[in-house]
Amino acid sequence: MFVDSHCHINFEGLADRLPQVLERMREHAVTHALCVSVDLETLPSVLDIATRHDNIYASVGVHPDHQDAREPSVAELVELAQHPKVIAIGETGLDYYRLEGRTIDEMEWQRERFRTHIRAAHATKKPLIIHTRASADDTLRIMAEERAGDTGGVMHCFTEPWAVAERALEQNFHISLSGIVTFKSAVDVQDVARRVPLDRLLIETDSPYLAPVPYRGKPNEPAYVSYVGRFIAQQREMPDEALAAATTRNFFRLFGLQAPVGA
Ligand code: NI
Repeated sequence: MFVDSHCHINFEGLADRLPQVLERMREHAVTHALCVSVDLETLPSVLDIATRHDNIYASVGVHPDHQDAREPSVAELVELAQHPKVIAIGETGLDYYRLEGRTIDEMEWQRERFRTHIRAAHATKKPLIIHTRASADDTLRIMAEERAGDTGGVMHCFTEPWAVAERALEQNFHISLSGIVTFKSAVDVQDVARRVPLDRLLIETDSPYLAPVPYRGKPNEPAYVSYVGRFIAQQREMPDEALAAATTRNFFRLFGLQAPVGA
């Protein structure tokens, strides 16, 4: 059995055919998924899906790419995280990839928003879901300054080289790999896939984006995390079942959940 540690099944294309998405999870032995919040405006759709389905969990956070989203306060994140299906704070982090003419100095609002989320994680004792793109040094520096390692969490859709993974692991973080690992050109990610300690590894789809091979370029969905898991098992020269069991165990341990029977 596999768990998709990061998906957006409340987004268009998945939400409108949710019964089929959940059925295909069952067919692919994907037992659980974490539906990740990207802003407060769409958070109700995340919470609604998680409330109606036992095997779907939720997070609370505002994505660094959503500059125009309503800015959350620590108190507001803490309050929203009281929902019984909310198991994490995020996704949060930094993204300097889409600067669109702005300088890194001008991205202070992102760094402030990131600190807000880390403080909410402390207050709720819930792990963080961290997005980092073209910003690894600042991401790791702010994590250290704000003691993000106290709650720990996961570096999601990880695409940085091994040296960055090592620094995140030192800060008590897990590494989650998406379908990108199956792309031929993703040699850095495949290197990370072979080297992350097995007890710190998670797998995800980040669906509807980033479908793994053999669905590359098509809409992604949580069922396909099974392809991500099998590809990593191959890279690590271990049985699929062992990789599935370890990443499932890691998911339930990290988020403080009772593991289901058979996990
Ligand atoms: Ni995401």
